[in-house]
Formats: sequence, C-alpha cells, structure tokens
Amino acid sequence: MLRIMVREGRSEDFGSATELLNSVWPHRVGSERGLRHAADAAPANAHRRYWAAEDDGKLVGWATAAIEYQSAERPGFLEASVAPESRKAGLGTALLERCEAHLAGLGVTTVLSTTTAEEASQKLATAHGFRHTNTTRISGVDPRTIEPRSAPPGVDLRPLASLNPRKMYELDAEAMLDVPGEVAMDDVSFEQWLEDYWRHPDTDLDASVAAVIDDRPVAFSHLRIAPGGRAVTDMTGTLRDYRGRGLALLVKRATLVNAAKRGVELVSTENDETNGPMLRVNENLGYRPIGSTLTWSRP
Ligand SMILES: CC(C)(COP(=O)(O)OP(=O)(O)OC[C@H]1O[C@@H](n2cnc3c(N)ncnc32)[C@H](O)[C@@H]1OP(=O)(O)O)[C@@H](O)C(=O)NCCC(=O)NCCS
Repeated sequence: MLRIMVREGRSEDFGSATELLNSVWPHRVGSERGLRHAADAAPANAHRRYWAAEDDGKLVGWATAAIEYQSAERPGFLEASVAPESRKAGLGTALLERCEAHLAGLGVTTVLSTTTAEEASQKLATAHGFRHTNTTRISGVDPRTIEPRSAPPGVDLRPLASLNPRKMYELDAEAMLDVPGEVAMDDVSFEQWLEDYWRHPDTDLDASVAAVIDDRPVAFSHLRIAPGGRAVTDMTGTLRDYRGRGLALLVKRATLVNAAKRGVELVSTENDETNGPMLRVNENLGYRPIGSTLTWSRP
C-alpha cells in the first residue's frame, strides 16, 4: 500500500527530481544544477510551478507546469513523471490535475505536453484530451568514432566561447524558426536566451563549435554535458542563406570530436521525425535511433 502525498515541489527536491527525471525519460541529459538554473532563470510571466509526489518520504513523482514564454503564442506546458515502481496508483493523474488547474487559473487555452512513448503515458494523455502532434526521435553516437575534418577555405571553425553572444543569439533565433513543432519558438529576448542557453551551467561553450564566414557565425552546434558524462547536442542550426553547403555537418562533427576529448562516450540528440535535413546530417555522422518521446497539444 503506497503512502502517497502530493505537494508543491521545492528547490530542495531538485537533486532527487533530477534522478527521477533521468530515469523516467529515455537518455535525458539533466543535472540538479541545470534544474536549479532553469527554475531561477524562468521569467515571472512563465508562472512556473512544480509538484512532488512522495511515498513515505521518497520522491516518486514530479511535475511542472508553466507558460511557454519562448513562443509568442504563450501556450501552457505541463509534464508529469512517475517512477516505474510507483505507477498504476493514480499518481500521474494527481500530478496532471495539479498542472491543469494551475494553467486553467492562468487562463491558458492551448496546453502542450511531452510524454514517453510508453503505452500508459499515451493513454493518460489521450484520456486528458491531448492530441498527439509530433514524435521526437532520440539518436545517439559514440563521439570517439567521429573523424575530424578541416574546414573549407573561407570558413573558420571556432568555439562558441570565442564569439560575440549577440551574433550567436541572432543565428540561433533564425534557425529556431524552422525547427518543426506545434508552436514556433519565436519570441526569446537576448537576455532570456543568455540565461537559457549561454549561461546554462551544463552548456560547454568551449566544446560547442560555430562556422564563421566573414566574421559572422552562420552555423553552430551546441553541446551540453551533465555531471557523469551524459551529453547531448541540444541544437544545431544554419542561417537560411547558408544551408545545403555541409556547414551543419561540419560544426556538428567538430563538436562531437570535442565531446570525445572530454571523455564522453555517448552523445544523444533529439529531432522531430519530420526534420529531414537534420536527420540526414545525423545519419551522415553515424547516429542511430535509440528512443523516442511524443509531444501533445490540447486542443
Ligand atoms: C537542419 C539544418 C541545421 C541543416 O543545416 P545545413 O547546413 O543545411 O546542413 P548540411 O548542408 O550540412 O546537410 C544537410 C543535409 O540534409 C539534406 N537535405 C536537405 N533537405 C532535405 C530534406 N528535405 N529531406 C532530407 N534531407 C535533406 C542535404 O542533402 C544534406 O545531406 P547530404 O550532405 O547527405 O546531401 C538547417 O536546415 C537548419 O538550421 N534547420 C532549422 C534548425 C533545426 O531544425 N535544427 C535542428 C533542431 S533539432
């Protein structure tokens, strides 16, 4: 018999919440310091809240709900996670209901969510009126298998740390507009972007590489490494005018070579299954599918 309690999540929970999230979500690259940073960096108008489910003092469930402040549409977002050994006891529903009530109180009309691909997760989402919109393919590669290549004439490969963050922001903002998804991530201010990506404690600005042409970064790949060596290339993007020249392949390759130098043995990446160009780049680098997650919307 579970002795369960659902309560507001607190910053003291972030360590156990990270462990829980990293075990529930396939290949998640998360850290306690990253969760803390994201909580501190969320703007007030995100209204972000957390809930924790405890069984006899042990954290067995975690959920969050907020306004998606990176999109001009300002949809709500919620996500609930329950430890495998504590499932089928109503915890997912209890956590989801806390999230839904919070977002309803904020007057949100569209709610987005992410689930694992497990049947039970899909059933719960469907039962709460969510519609499956996108599938995210998780792929992985051992970066030690990647051969370095030199850049063609006129292209410099540079670590992000050596570049002007404002120019990187402009590049990222343009590329983000073309990432497939239910809503566009089209409204991130420079200051917020600095917090969310540039100053994220797991971002490795020395290992992440950009291609620079005429003093302008035109393509980049962003590497995040959590304590323990779990790593992910979070975002790769090329300015529209520079696509189709092999630049994404070049920067992602250079970033993976740097990851191998850091001792990383598996780098994951997450892509919408309709993102043809990005999946092709990954295929060229030897990434193999290792999992998937699903995204949902209501209505
Ligand atoms: C994905 C992206 C980074 C690719 O940048 P790029 O510099 O044009 O990439 P490259 O030139 O190195 O390689 C593109 C590959 O995709 C292929 N390609 C192009 N359009 C394609 C399509 N519609 N379907 C399948 N493959 C396609 C190209 O032929 C090339 O493969 P090849 O070298 O085997 O011929 C760029 O399109 C972009 O910035 N998109 C928006 C941001 C994004 O979605 N990032 C990924 C988020 S997870």
